[in-house]
Amino acid sequence: MPATIMIGAHWGDEGKGRVTDELAAEADIVARFAGGDNAGHTVYVDGTVFKFHLLPSGILRDNVTCVLGNGMVINPVNLLKEMDEMSAKGLDISPQRLLLSTRAHIISPAHIALDKAAEIARGADAIGTTLRGIGPAYLDKAARQGIRAGQMNQVEEFADALYASIERANETLKSAGLETLDPQESALTYIEAAERLKPYLCDTGVYLNQHLKEGAQVLCEGAQGAMLDIDHGDYPYVTSSTSTSGGALTGLGIGPLYISRVVGVTKAFSSRVGSGPMPSEQEGAIADRLRGTGENFWDEFGTTTGRIRRCGWLDGVILRYASLVNGFTELYVTKLDVLSGLDEVKIAVAYEIDGKRLEYPPTTIPELQRVRAVYETLPGWSEDVSTIRQEADLPQAARDFVRAIHELCDVPVKTVSVGPARDQVIHFA
Ligand code: IMP
Repeated sequence: MPATIMIGAHWGDEGKGRVTDELAAEADIVARFAGGDNAGHTVYVDGTVFKFHLLPSGILRDNVTCVLGNGMVINPVNLLKEMDEMSAKGLDISPQRLLLSTRAHIISPAHIALDKAAEIARGADAIGTTLRGIGPAYLDKAARQGIRAGQMNQVEEFADALYASIERANETLKSAGLETLDPQESALTYIEAAERLKPYLCDTGVYLNQHLKEGAQVLCEGAQGAMLDIDHGDYPYVTSSTSTSGGALTGLGIGPLYISRVVGVTKAFSSRVGSGPMPSEQEGAIADRLRGTGENFWDEFGTTTGRIRRCGWLDGVILRYASLVNGFTELYVTKLDVLSGLDEVKIAVAYEIDGKRLEYPPTTIPELQRVRAVYETLPGWSEDVSTIRQEADLPQAARDFVRAIHELCDVPVKTVSVGPARDQVIHFA
């Protein structure tokens, strides 16, 4: 059973980039299955920081072929920009190593303009999207008027589809009193990009199934996080794709019996960018402490947008729920080192609303906004854990914290990271 799915357990930014990089060492193929360049996966290797938005983080491993699956939405211009950046850093980004699904959908300039227009129209209720055109691209896909990556094979047809998409968007922009786009001018770089991307196009569903059948190890790299999932997240403050484990099957076109392992990634605390409820959010000194100053690349500032991330104690209610809807078989806890030096550490183990205790998050936003987090408080630890590599060498309080995470969602913690470098990892028995 050769496929592993890796999923963020909260609202994204759990440290999935480093987890992919680690799991990719054992993989033949790493495949992204949902979202687009709204993602920001950071990996630190030998003094170099790599920030991926579209390319699977597995591209850093020479042994791996990377797939951009059918469930994704692709901005061809931004994809090429990232490919060029990574080539300049010495990575091989040839069509032998990167395959783009002919069934993936294209983000056009129209989608980006419409994303901005929709956020303006929402006013105080804005979702806080990444403004990458993600929602409008999935909207066109569902409305069966999207542009698929495979259309780039016929550049004239692709250009016509782009013009039509831009003209449709112009109607909406005009009626909202916003600036319209010049179809020819805005589409130009996209048409050039299409020419360059042709050699990468592939029926990736067939490719993946053929390789799985032959025993290839496939890592399905989740983006965003469980609570940003269009169905299971805190709708409408979500992204527009299925970012939970089910999305790996539909977003890659593979069957469930290939999946043997589902790794849930959680930070040792919680963070969120964009709007929406966050019951364990903290303000003041604790939030500042968890967030960091912004001087380090691992501090809690958005990789894609640079926005400040809201920070709080680990939300165990969300983690328990994410374990359920994703079917996690193990957990990977990142950034344990950030908690060193705190007198006490907290985990939200339940919510309370109207005198009732909840083990799982309520479904509606008004309820989620009213819940009060119930915390378990554990002793902190003063030791710097960043140089520790064995479970037994961790301070007892840190081990108790990890144990509490396991017990709270009944999923074993198999790995803990204590710093950004590849070797700053502790494997648990
Ligand atoms: P969209 O995906 O750009 O439509 O944004 C919808 C919501 O998901 C916003 O709250 C974004 O901040 C959030 N979001 C989307 N992608 C990511 C991600 O990779 N990490 C964290 N938040 C994300």
